[in-house]
Amino acid sequence: MCGIVGAVAERNVVEILLEGLKRLEYRGYDSAGVALLQPNGTLTRTRRTGKVQALADALADSEALGSTGIAHTRWATHGGVTEANAHPHYSSERIAVVHNGIIENYQALRESLSADGYHFESDTDTETIAHTVHKLMDGSESLLQAVQKAVKTFHGAYGTVIMDKQDPSKVVVARSGSPLVIGLGLGENFIASDQMALLPVTRRFIFLEEGDVAEITRRTIAIYDKDGNPVEREIIESNVEHDAGDKGGYRHYMLKEIHEQPTVVRNTLQNRLVGNTLSADIFGKGADDIFATIKHVQIVACGTSYHAGMTARYWLEQYAGVTCNVEIASEFRYRKSVVTPNSLLITISQSGETADTLAALRLAKEIGYTASLTICNVPGSSLVRESDLAFMTRAGAEIGVASTKAFTTQLTGFLLLTLALGQHHNMSDADKNTISEALQSLPAKLEETLAITQGIEDLAEEFADKNHSLFLGRGDQYPIAMEGALKLKEISYIHAEAYASGELKHGPLALIDDEMPVIVVAPNNELLEKLKSNVEEVRARGGIMYVFADSDAQFESDDTMRVINVPHCEGPIAPIVYTLPLQLLSYYVALIKGTDVDQPRNLAKSVTVE
Ligand code: G6P
Repeated sequence: MCGIVGAVAERNVVEILLEGLKRLEYRGYDSAGVALLQPNGTLTRTRRTGKVQALADALADSEALGSTGIAHTRWATHGGVTEANAHPHYSSERIAVVHNGIIENYQALRESLSADGYHFESDTDTETIAHTVHKLMDGSESLLQAVQKAVKTFHGAYGTVIMDKQDPSKVVVARSGSPLVIGLGLGENFIASDQMALLPVTRRFIFLEEGDVAEITRRTIAIYDKDGNPVEREIIESNVEHDAGDKGGYRHYMLKEIHEQPTVVRNTLQNRLVGNTLSADIFGKGADDIFATIKHVQIVACGTSYHAGMTARYWLEQYAGVTCNVEIASEFRYRKSVVTPNSLLITISQSGETADTLAALRLAKEIGYTASLTICNVPGSSLVRESDLAFMTRAGAEIGVASTKAFTTQLTGFLLLTLALGQHHNMSDADKNTISEALQSLPAKLEETLAITQGIEDLAEEFADKNHSLFLGRGDQYPIAMEGALKLKEISYIHAEAYASGELKHGPLALIDDEMPVIVVAPNNELLEKLKSNVEEVRARGGIMYVFADSDAQFESDDTMRVINVPHCEGPIAPIVYTLPLQLLSYYVALIKGTDVDQPRNLAKSVTVE
């Protein structure tokens, strides 16, 4: 989704801004722009629809210069994908603004600003920020003061950076609902919506809090809270890898990230599970005392992270003996729900910034959950900072919009949580050993599974001309079928639906014909025989099946069924193992279809607006 980069320096900041935008490209966007201020007060703006490279070419042609600058990648919400709607937006050729989020009362603001004589050049909500600040410059002592007054009139979410042509020495930034991070340099300072953008220039960051407004010059940073009081915020040294943005020899980030899974799962387990003993504090300080009181778990998340929650419910109830509900965050946040006493609210998020998930966490705090835990991949993100407890997945930066390694590390975290909660709910030694041993074997099993890639590449050919597909699974493989269907639709644009295979007779059987491939995940578990009956139901109706089956499950390929053997694995890690071939299938189908694998159309990596 939208990305922000800004800089106040002595040197020309064009390359820093462009590199920052390139590092945010993975989030998804449809246009990009830069505004630059020179010390003599010259303000210039360049915007382009399409890729950041088009903007870079335009800036190179114009030999653009500026020591203070703001830049943006826009993912259209209000107003189509046009140059006029791309950020930065101006007011009176004096104020320049970039903005992430949505100003919900923009219509009312627009009407009143128009009545005051302001002319709108775009259809965006963002332009109301520029004109409001400009209007309030009259009667304010500084840009800072005008912004502090302006934010009081905005409803909705914003992370915004504002420059004033008449004072090129600073930018003023404000955060409410959309993240902003200040990067500290030597004699220069930076701002971005994501630390990834600034890693080439600094590793020292201040994460702004909700309601913060800050004035940033080359040498000073002054932060004020929502009441206007000066505040100090902690400086954090980032340990995110600098080169996470490289494809490492792979054709796409997504393929690289699929292949990284054995390593990142190993990293996620490292020093956390020793034999069958969990290390202390892996969910945060005091977690054990909280877990001892927990009787119910409510999970909320979006997209792929929601599927991780759906899978975890099977484990938490089966092994830890804790009741568990799972809900999509955008539903949970707008529903009046009943809170079960002694409930733990768990959010799951790769980015830690998903607007609906964050809103669900904030709601849970108001309505009486005992405590909150987030399973998250980004240290310092809003969910991590606002939750009581946090388990950090160690997936490293995930760049492909379609989530892969974040998902399998989330599931790994959930198996550790199953052990942790199970300790307080009489988990049997047998179950404890089963989970621990399965986890210890997981990285090697994932490596083995990736070795079947070639078969899947061939298989993908058969999907390229299909418009619809059906994914089937049972038990804890049902959410894996859902995740497989999500991956296929996200990156190959083939309509894909997932069903619990026991539901076949209740509707989807009507869809079966030889134009509708049916993908089945079939580990060798207690539901295998039931699943085989479902497979026969599809076969009897002329369906064409692709069965990802345990090598011991005794499926045979024939005219109507293609069997892809998955290395034998037992117990709770099977859903994690079966995820990989489905990711690879989507990837190779997308490759044949020639889609933009890493940045699929209309989608964003981090959905910071609802
Ligand atoms: C977007 C991404 C998905 C992701 C979802 C939730 O839709 O494209 O890949 O699963 O957001 O994101 P989160 O960062 O909260 O896991």
